[in-house]
Amino acid sequence: MGLRLLMLLLLLLPAQQLVAASEAAANVPIYFSNPGAEVWNAVRQRDDLVLPARTQAPRPDDAVLIDIEGENFRHFRDEKLTRYGGWAMAGILILLALYHLVHGPVRIVDGESGSRIERFKRYDLILHWVLAGTFLILAVTGLLFLFGRLVIIPWLGIEAFGPIALAGKWIHNLLGPPFAVVLVLFFIRFVGKNLPRAADIVWLAKLGGFLGNSHPPAGFFNAGEKILFWLLIVIGAGISVSGLVLDFPFVVDSAREPLRLAQVIHGLTTVALMAVIIGHIYLGSVGTEGTLQSMTRGNVDTNWAKTHHSLWYEEVSSQQGKPEKSADPEKS
Ligand code: HEM
Repeated sequence: MGLRLLMLLLLLLPAQQLVAASEAAANVPIYFSNPGAEVWNAVRQRDDLVLPARTQAPRPDDAVLIDIEGENFRHFRDEKLTRYGGWAMAGILILLALYHLVHGPVRIVDGESGSRIERFKRYDLILHWVLAGTFLILAVTGLLFLFGRLVIIPWLGIEAFGPIALAGKWIHNLLGPPFAVVLVLFFIRFVGKNLPRAADIVWLAKLGGFLGNSHPPAGFFNAGEKILFWLLIVIGAGISVSGLVLDFPFVVDSAREPLRLAQVIHGLTTVALMAVIIGHIYLGSVGTEGTLQSMTRGNVDTNWAKTHHSLWYEEVSSQQGKPEKSADPEKS
C-alpha cells in the first residue's frame, strides 16, 4: 500500500508540473521576433532606414522597393474619384433632365422670322467641331479607364474588356496632344469675344433670365458662354499639361511623385470639365431653340439673335443694315 502511494505521488508530481507548465505557457503571449518583419518595415518606411537602399539602376525611385504612397493614390482613384466623379456627372444629367421636363426648351421670342444672320465663319465651325470631337472621344475613352472594369466586364465579359481597354488607351494617348493644340487655336480665335463687358454684370445679376423668363441684353457671347469659355481654357490647360506629362513621362524622369500628381490633377480636371460640357451640350442643342444651327450652319435666325444676343444684333444691323434676305447659304 505504501509502495503504491509512493508510485502515485511519483506520477502525479510530473503531471502536475506539466499542467502548471502548459498553463503558464498558455498565459504567456507568444512573441516571435521575426527578423523578416523588421526588414519589411524598413523597406516600407524608407525614411527610417539607417542605410539607404543602393541600386545599380540610375533612375529616380529605382531604390524604392515598396511605395507606400501608392496605396493612398489607389484609394483616391478607385474609391474617391470614381464615386464623387460619377455622382457629379450623374447629378448634372438628372438636374438637366428635370429642368427640361418642367421648363422645356427656351423658345425664340416671336418664333423664327425666316431671315438669317451670319454668326460664325467656316474656320470657327471646324475649330469648334474638331475640339468637341477630340474632347468627346477623350472623355469616352477616359471614362473607360475609370469605370470600364465596373461596367464592361459584367456586361461583355473579361475577354472583351482587354482589347477594348487597349484600343481606348491608344486612342486616348494619341488624341491628347491634338486636343491641346486645338485648345490653343480656339483660345486665340475666341479670346477677343470673351473679354468681360459691363452688360455681363447685368446678365449675371439676372442669372441670364433664368429667373422670370426674361432675356437680358448680351453681346456676341453672353456672360454664361464667357464663363464656359474661361472654364474650358483654364481647366483644359490643366488637363492638357497633366495629360502631356502622362503621355511623355520622361519629361519628369518617370519619377513616381510628379506622375502621381499629374494623374490626380488629370482626374479632377477632366471630371470637372465633363460636368461643365454636359451642361453646354444641353444648352447648345435641345435646351435652347435654334442655337444648334449657329454651330452647324454658321448662321442664326434674326429673332434668335434679338432674343439671346440683342446688343450683338444691334451692332451687326447698324453696320450692315437689317438683314432682309436669308444669310443661310442653304436657302439663298
Ligand atoms: C455635341 C456636342 C456639342 C454641341 C451640340 C455644341 C454646341 C455649341 C453651339 C451651338 C455653340 C454656339 C453657341 C452660340 O452661338 O452662342 C457652341 C459654342 C461653343 N462650344 Fe460647343 N457644342 C458641343 C461640344 C463642345 C465641346 C466638347 C466643347 C469643349 C470641349 C465646346 C465648347 C464650346 C465653346 C467654348 C463655345 C463658344 C462659347 C464661347 O466662346 O464663349 N463645345 N457649342
